[in-house]
Amino acid sequence: MIIPVASGKGGVGKSLVAANLGVSLARLGRTVILVDLDFGCADLHSFLGMRSRASGIGSLHWKQEKNLSGLLAETGEERLWLIPGDTLQPGVANIEWQVKKRIQKDLAELPADFIILDLGTGSTWNTIDFWLAGTGGIIVVTPEITSVLNAYALLKSAAFRLLSQGFPEGSSEKAFVLDFASEWVEDGTRSLIDFAKDLARRSPSRGGAALRAFQGILPCLVINRGRDESDVEAGHMLRDLAVKNLGITPYFGAFIPEDPAVSGSLVARRPLVSLDPEASFARAIRAFAGRIASAPRASLLRASRPLVDVDILALAREALS
Ligand SMILES: Nc1ncnc2c1ncn2[C@@H]1O[C@H](COP(=O)(O)OP(=O)(O)OP(=O)(O)O)[C@@H](O)[C@H]1O
Ligand SMILES: [Mg+2]
Repeated sequence: MIIPVASGKGGVGKSLVAANLGVSLARLGRTVILVDLDFGCADLHSFLGMRSRASGIGSLHWKQEKNLSGLLAETGEERLWLIPGDTLQPGVANIEWQVKKRIQKDLAELPADFIILDLGTGSTWNTIDFWLAGTGGIIVVTPEITSVLNAYALLKSAAFRLLSQGFPEGSSEKAFVLDFASEWVEDGTRSLIDFAKDLARRSPSRGGAALRAFQGILPCLVINRGRDESDVEAGHMLRDLAVKNLGITPYFGAFIPEDPAVSGSLVARRPLVSLDPEASFARAIRAFAGRIASAPRASLLRASRPLVDVDILALAREALS
């Protein structure tokens, strides 16, 4: 199962969450591969206490390695592997189309229970395409308005991307999507899913497939750096915006508190879930991993069920207690 981790705003904790989630799932007996797909700003290895010596994604870019599986590096944690990004090789931020296709194909064939993708920030097509590779991709937000609005922008771009990809270049439907995108006013009067339904009526086969793909976007929101239970409002705000304007319903995956122990774990170069499993951050991540590991198999299929779905306020109360 592929679990992409994205965010609209940078520095909100994607890599920290991805690394600690990977360790937690491995400790629950699952095989896990963490993949650093933050092209140009790869640092996932450092959250695992590893040095950036192993070759990574840049080797695909520079054609020294043909397959993603040739880049698997041991992390020192049983059942957990890392495919590093590349800090050593220049130009990886501008990954070519063929390399992207190669990575997408190889990801689906990697031998692990969970493949966690640490993505770059924002709404570049690379990020969006990898985020769409998993059912219920994670979006990390912090309780700041900019983080919420950028996360909404990411969701909107992903939704448009899926819709326009459903139609061939030069087709009237694609032109229709592009026209709609340029004229659309996000005032809640017409949601993107209503538009997708119209398209499906006009063009039942391609439009129908595009609509089904659209309905398969089941984002999993992770609120990070929560200090107060009122911080769940950030999640509700994003959910309300996405429901009203896009017709997409984000689900709640986790509420992770701000925890001063995080900085100590970064200095010690050890994930907090292994350094201090009882720290509040570690407890929240371990509980999240437990929910993911025990989710019904049906949620592994696109367009079926969200990754997880929790009562975020109850979770916030528990995490902050
Ligand atoms: N729950 C938390 N408690 C305390 N500090 C945190 C928490 N989450 C994140 N941080 C701090 O925020 C920093 C940035 O986190 P991280 O590098 O994982 O973000 P990112 O979203 O991956 O950033 P980038 O966009 O640069 O890839 C961490 O190094 C840590 O200091
Ligand atoms: Mg990062």
